[in-house]
Amino acid sequence: PGGNEYQAEDATITQGVVESNHAGFTGRGFVNYDNVTGSAVEFTVNAATAGNATLTFRYANGTTVNRPLSISVNGGAQTKDFPGTGAWTTWQEASVTAALNAGANTVRAGATTANGGPNLDRLTV
Ligand code: GCU
Ligand code: CA
Ligand code: CA
Repeated sequence: PGGNEYQAEDATITQGVVESNHAGFTGRGFVNYDNVTGSAVEFTVNAATAGNATLTFRYANGTTVNRPLSISVNGGAQTKDFPGTGAWTTWQEASVTAALNAGANTVRAGATTANGGPNLDRLTV
């Protein structure tokens, strides 16, 4: 619980737009990934100490089709499922564990299918 929050709309966005037309987001809105492979959101995450951390992504996927993201942290990547949440206004969380370095870490969440990613609200670490 708790942790540092990184809003997707404040991250570095490649092929996506910040929107606020689906209620329930936190902060100023969310990132609507372009529906293409490779669309991405990149966060800079600061860690006090090195070690494994839980990365929790808050997202919505109003379709019935999974939209996996490749989560790459300092170069090592893992694919995480982001299945349908029932509506674009229904937000859920999905978590991965990743090894962080002390100091700044680059966390990139990139779409692995032509559907793009889910709508992404924030990352909590
Ligand atoms: C709809 C929805 C968007 C979403 C898009 C998609 O257009 O309003 O928020 O990103 O579908 O399928 O990716
Ligand atoms: Ca989209
Ligand atoms: Ca947000």
